[in-house]
Amino acid sequence: MRDFKYKWEEFKKLPFGTKKKFFIRENELSYVIFAQQFDRKKLQELFALADKIRELSKNKAGADSLQNLLSHKRATLFFSQPSTRTFKSFYNACHILGIKTTELRDGTSSSQKKGESPEDTILTFASYTDLIIMRNSEEWLAEKASWLLNKKNRVVKIINAGSGKDQHPTQSLLDAYTMEIAFKDKKGIDGKTIAIVGDLKRGRAARSLIYIIKNYKNIKLILISPNSLKIEPDVRAFLKRNKIKFTETSDLKSNLNKCDVIYMTRIQDEYDVNNESKEIDYSAFHLKKSHLRLIKKDAIIMHPLPRRDEINIEIDDDKRAWYWKQERNGMWIRAALIAYMYGMQKEIMNFNSEL
Ligand code: ASP
Ligand code: CP
Repeated sequence: MRDFKYKWEEFKKLPFGTKKKFFIRENELSYVIFAQQFDRKKLQELFALADKIRELSKNKAGADSLQNLLSHKRATLFFSQPSTRTFKSFYNACHILGIKTTELRDGTSSSQKKGESPEDTILTFASYTDLIIMRNSEEWLAEKASWLLNKKNRVVKIINAGSGKDQHPTQSLLDAYTMEIAFKDKKGIDGKTIAIVGDLKRGRAARSLIYIIKNYKNIKLILISPNSLKIEPDVRAFLKRNKIKFTETSDLKSNLNKCDVIYMTRIQDEYDVNNESKEIDYSAFHLKKSHLRLIKKDAIIMHPLPRRDEINIEIDDDKRAWYWKQERNGMWIRAALIAYMYGMQKEIMNFNSEL
């Protein structure tokens, strides 16, 4: 829906429920900005599509069929904040589907250096490409880009690959996909106890994961963080509004034996105003080898990565360490997401994997 009645400043303040319809254009995922855009049905479709793309990619005939699907499309990867896996997995996801990519990562080589605004930079990308995948420190930029392109009737899709401290919706997709795989024979994600550990105030992966978890039944969340890095009040209100059971604590060790998922995160000190992270003892939020005996035998340990010392590398060889699989799942679910945005799901699901 194209809706011109709101100016950006007004639009920005609307509650998600009201502005949701604005993000529907060619389909309801023309702009992927918030994790709340995904309901359970869509998640299931994306997981099935990711499984199928992974399967097809194993042989040349399957990979060639995928390559032809979107070979007429071009994408810009606009990453002005650092990234390794989100950038690489999107880049490769585009290539799996035959999409040509161009990138802008370093602001010093673009005309932003000459004073061009981020909005004009985005309009310029839209002059040459069909899809913009963007990671920026400005929390509002991906949303504003969608508003702007929609208002100008430019048929260009947007994916938020990390919007400052706010959201990382595609991280939450790969997180849910990873849990879905891990608990396939254990009644799925419903009913699980999930600990999210670390910087819950500024971590966008944690915030988006909390929004995605709403889609599952009878989840118990244990939110474990230093006192000064607890979830923000709006997230607490979201959990209460949606009747999701949660507790907040700063005690990692005595909660480990309750968890089916232990989701570790890094302190987000790039958002410090006055070096305040230096005052925090984060070592109590590190998982050590000695903790392994406290963790359930069939629990999984996750981390969006990159890690510092949150998970000791000695844990990597434990069968409960799922973070490297989690990282690999990112490429498949992102390929599935892009294919879905272009309405290719039926075509892909009908491809013969046996070719
Ligand atoms: N890579 C994730 C993000 O960009 C997590 C992190 O950097 O700590 O949000
Ligand atoms: N998980 C994640 O977003 O990693 P990068 O910051 O390396 O992209």
